[in-house]
Amino acid sequence: MKSNLKTIGILTGGGDCPGLNAVIRSIANPAMKEFDCRVIGILDGFEGLVEGKMRELASHDVTGILNIGGTILGTSNKGNPFKFPVETPRGIEVLDYSNQAVKNYRNWNLDALIAIGGDGTMHIVNKFSELGLNFIGVPKTIDNDLSATDVTFGYDSAVSVATEAIDRLQTTASAHHRVMVVEVMGRYAGWIALGAGIAGGADVILIPEIPFKWEKVYEHVLLRSKHGNRSSIICVAEGAKPSEGNIVVKEIDNKRTDPVRLGGIGDLVGRKIEESTGLETRVVVLGHVLRGGSPTPYDRILATRFGAVALETAAEGKFGHMVSLRGTEVITVPVKEAILELHTVPLDSQYIKSARAVGTDFGD
Ligand code: F6P
Repeated sequence: MKSNLKTIGILTGGGDCPGLNAVIRSIANPAMKEFDCRVIGILDGFEGLVEGKMRELASHDVTGILNIGGTILGTSNKGNPFKFPVETPRGIEVLDYSNQAVKNYRNWNLDALIAIGGDGTMHIVNKFSELGLNFIGVPKTIDNDLSATDVTFGYDSAVSVATEAIDRLQTTASAHHRVMVVEVMGRYAGWIALGAGIAGGADVILIPEIPFKWEKVYEHVLLRSKHGNRSSIICVAEGAKPSEGNIVVKEIDNKRTDPVRLGGIGDLVGRKIEESTGLETRVVVLGHVLRGGSPTPYDRILATRFGAVALETAAEGKFGHMVSLRGTEVITVPVKEAILELHTVPLDSQYIKSARAVGTDFGD
C-alpha cells in the first residue's frame, strides 16, 4: 500500500489492559518496514503529549512484545490535555493545556497520531479531530463499555482471568460450605461480571444494569443451602447497586479523567449476606488482577487486526475515525459515534436470558 505518511505517533491512554503492546507492534512494524515511516512513541498517554515526553521507536522496541501485558509506552488516566491537573500554590487546578499538546504534535511533525484507549481517550481524540489534528482511535478496555464496536480488546482477557478465579473459588467455597462473593471491575457496565459469571457458573450475578433487591439475593442463597448445595458464588460488578441504595464509591480524585473510582460493593454484599442469612461468607476483590498479564489469543488477534486497520486508515488519510469490530469484520466508524453513550448490557441481552435459563439469579 502506498502512503504519504512520514511520521506517525502512537499513544496508549487510560487504564492499561492486555493487548496494548500487540496493537503497538501491529502499527509500528509495518509502518517502519513497509511505509518507511518514523514512529514516535508518546509516553504515559496524553500526559506525554502535553509534556513532550516522546521518543522515536526502533524496530527492536516493538519486537517480542505481542504477548506481554501492560504497555511499553506507559499510560495515564490523569492527563486529559483539555482538563490538565496542575499543582499550584492554591492546590490542584484543572487547566486547558491542549495548546501545549498541539505544539508538541507539530514540533514532532506528526502526520497522524493513533491513540489506543477507552471512553475518555476517544473523547479527547474527538476534540483534537475537531481542532483539525489527524487522530485515529483504537478501542481498548477490559470494561467493554465503548459504543460503536461490538467488543473492545482487553475484555476477553479480563473475563478469562475472572473465570479462572471463580473456578478456583468454587472448590474452596464448596469445601467450607461458604458463600463466596467475587467483585470484578467494569465501571458502569456489567459486561465483565456477566461474562465471567456465565463462564464460571456463578449462582448470582449482580450488574449495574439490573439494580438488585437484598431480599432476593438472601432468598436465593438460602434456598440453595436448603437444597443441599454446599456453596454459592456471587459475581458482583463494582458498579452494581441495590434498587434502594447507591453505587459504592471508593474515592473521588479530580486529577483523573473520570474522577470517580468505584469499589467496595463486594464487601457490602458479603457483610449483608452473612448477617442476614447466617451463612459463612468470604469476599474476594479481583481488581487490577483483571488488567494484568498476557492477553488471551482472542485479544492478541483482535488487537493485531485493530492495529493493522488503524495504520491503513491513517495511510488513507481517513482521520477522526475509530477502528471497530462489527460482526466478523474490522471497519472504521466516526469517533463521534463511539462517545455518544456508554455501551452497557441491554436488558433484553441474550447473555442475560441464557444465564437466567440455567438458573442464575440477578437479584431482581
Ligand atoms: O476502565 C478500566 C478500569 O479497570 C475500570 O474497570 C476500573 O473502574 C478503573 O479502570 C480502575 O482505575 P484505576 O486503575 O485508576 O484504579
